[in-house]
Amino acid sequence: MLQKDIKILGIETSCDETAAAVVVNGREVLSNVIYSQIDIHTLYGGVVPEIASRKHIEKITPVIRKALEDASLTWDDLDAIAVTYGPGLVGPLLVGVGTAKAISYARRIPLVGVNHIEGHICANYIENKELEPPFMCLVASGGHSHIVKTVDYGKYEILGRTHDDAAGEAFDKIARAIGLGYPGGPKVDKLAREGNPDAIRFPRAVIEDAPYDFSFSGLKSSVLNYLNNAEMKGEEVNKADVAASFQKAVIEVLTERSIKAAIDNDCKRLALAGGVASNSSLREYMKKRTAEEGIEFFNPSPIYCTDNGVMIASAGYYEFIKGVRDGNTLNAVPNLKIGER
Ligand code: KG4
Ligand code: ZN
Repeated sequence: MLQKDIKILGIETSCDETAAAVVVNGREVLSNVIYSQIDIHTLYGGVVPEIASRKHIEKITPVIRKALEDASLTWDDLDAIAVTYGPGLVGPLLVGVGTAKAISYARRIPLVGVNHIEGHICANYIENKELEPPFMCLVASGGHSHIVKTVDYGKYEILGRTHDDAAGEAFDKIARAIGLGYPGGPKVDKLAREGNPDAIRFPRAVIEDAPYDFSFSGLKSSVLNYLNNAEMKGEEVNKADVAASFQKAVIEVLTERSIKAAIDNDCKRLALAGGVASNSSLREYMKKRTAEEGIEFFNPSPIYCTDNGVMIASAGYYEFIKGVRDGNTLNAVPNLKIGER
């Protein structure tokens, strides 16, 4: 018997990207529209929540319309609407949730609330049609750094977490300190290619009794101290060397702990997710180390690593086919945890 294709509209507004996409059966992309607010927030050196909310309100309708248009679909073709309801900034989240609820009610289309971090993990399904749980996943974004075991679709176990800064946050802070501005990750990534990653030995924090956890605040302080000392002594700093050495410290820690988690838990597959997963050196180093350890490695194309609607539609699909439905009471949950509903 032929099964009907499930077409889901995914809506994402948790931070500074207004995004919508249509995905079939959780894996086949029909459209992917992203309006990035980066240029506006760059003026302020970081995301200003109030400005983000206002921009989402302005852009959400045209972005959704374009996602439907690019997919050559009408409202009637949709089987469900998936929307990020947490974690993230409350104002921005409310714009997506409110819009999704309004469309769902007006057009009688089922609604599914999606966890943003679970969305990042599901981005791996788009270009790897054969990937199925269980697999280990390193999620590194601006707000989160986790090692998560995807036990089954929609079922997650957190093995490691950060004790302070998220990896992306560390990139953003170091970028600011060396005068690169916002958003830091891509700028450090680019500058680091011109530097020597072994020029300066920055610390790699080890956390007692928590072999899969992270801490980036000591590393951050160490880089800031290095910059201050140089300034006080009137010495010129090689910014590319600082960027490359800092990046190497982050990458080594993220990679080695994820690989350890995979090996210790008999996982032969390791995936990458979140904005930091678009870092070119992290991808290269992970690829090399997983090959050495005989672990299969997955990473989404950079466009699916940073925030997008495709990943939300994909995660929404696996919830939808399990029977999950949300109603008009769906609300934004800024501190939503992985695996919670
Ligand atoms: O997943 P994401 O788009 O938004 C959140 O959910 O937070 O991640 C954004 C974070 C930012 O901190 C940004 O600096 C970082 O991902 N990022 C990168 C790169 N591209 C984005 N970090 C390192 N290298 C990159 N190429
Ligand atoms: Zn994100």
